[in-house]
Amino acid sequence: MYLCAAMEDVLILAIESSCDDTSAAVLRNTEVLSNVIAGQDIHREFGGVVPELASRAHQQNIVPVVDAALKKAGVLREQLHCIAFTRGPGLLGSLLVGTAFAKSMALGLGIPIIDVDHMRAHIMALFLDGQEKPEFPFLCLTVSGGHTQIEIVRDAFGGEIIGRTIDDAAGEAFDKAAKIMGLPYPGGPEIDKLAKQGNSSRFAFPVPSVPGLDFSYSGLKTSFLYLVRDGLAVDPEFIEKNCADLAASIQASIVGIILQRIEQAVRQTGITRIGLAGGVSANSGLRDGLSELARKEDDWKLYIPKFSYTTDNAAMIGAVAYYKYLAGQFASQETAPYSRQNR
Ligand code: KG4
Ligand code: ZN
Repeated sequence: MYLCAAMEDVLILAIESSCDDTSAAVLRNTEVLSNVIAGQDIHREFGGVVPELASRAHQQNIVPVVDAALKKAGVLREQLHCIAFTRGPGLLGSLLVGTAFAKSMALGLGIPIIDVDHMRAHIMALFLDGQEKPEFPFLCLTVSGGHTQIEIVRDAFGGEIIGRTIDDAAGEAFDKAAKIMGLPYPGGPEIDKLAKQGNSSRFAFPVPSVPGLDFSYSGLKTSFLYLVRDGLAVDPEFIEKNCADLAASIQASIVGIILQRIEQAVRQTGITRIGLAGGVSANSGLRDGLSELARKEDDWKLYIPKFSYTTDNAAMIGAVAYYKYLAGQFASQETAPYSRQNR
């Protein structure tokens, strides 16, 4: 039985290993003292994440990354109150590395472990210090490489998902379009960079017809593929000659779908506080488009995380852990990771 030290500062070590970044962070409550991220370049040559290589790289990275996070924060392991880890969703082999590490380190130190859902963590990144924190309830659009969803966030622990993708995620659409153009993985940031010099109305793509607040991106990907294939048949340098316009046009389509759904969600729920979360929230087209919309709708209030908290990082895992610690929600040594949401 662990007692919650709600009256004193809570020192948290958080670990994130759900995909291809090994990250460790140290937090004092919701203040980030360190947030170390080791990327895995090994996947670049394959144009996507190779699960088996990812878990091996996590095994190599985890000890130095945790060490670096503690050193940078100036915190000794004996001072920690708890260790948090991503339980899922994600790649099982990768999740197992973080889970097993957190369990054994906590066992050695005699402190509790806290399991954290990766998607909840993306949302709770908005509650890390140095940012204006939204009041509950708010709408949160979580757009990452694996998920695209709109949730009415009721409190730190959950809410109702009112829309989600029925096929590809928005980040996947960015990554697949980049792959078709021969750009390196992950393609989202590459498209973002190129799009800045391009004409977004040069190429048009069909708008998906999906009922309600759900999303679909697979049709967009297919029509992008056909456009490039047909262009290359006429001119082998089609991609090189048009890369900025291709990037700007596909980005505008992906972002357009998101903006349309947010407007619809606000109308449907009457909630005008809107949060943005997940890797794709780093996209400048999405940030600008949403800010532009919010300028027109004067009762809208936007909450966009700091750039460093958008893509996968352990600080966001620590944010959830802080609220779970206060609520006494600890995990047991038997806790197993899960690969998919909605277990
Ligand atoms: O949240 P995240 O780091 O990992 C998952 O949980 O999936 O999101 C990664 C996704 C990738 O698809 C990546 O291409 C995309 O976020 N991404 C971006 C940008 N930065 C990252 N997409 C568009 N524009 C960006 N600037
Ligand atoms: Zn993520």
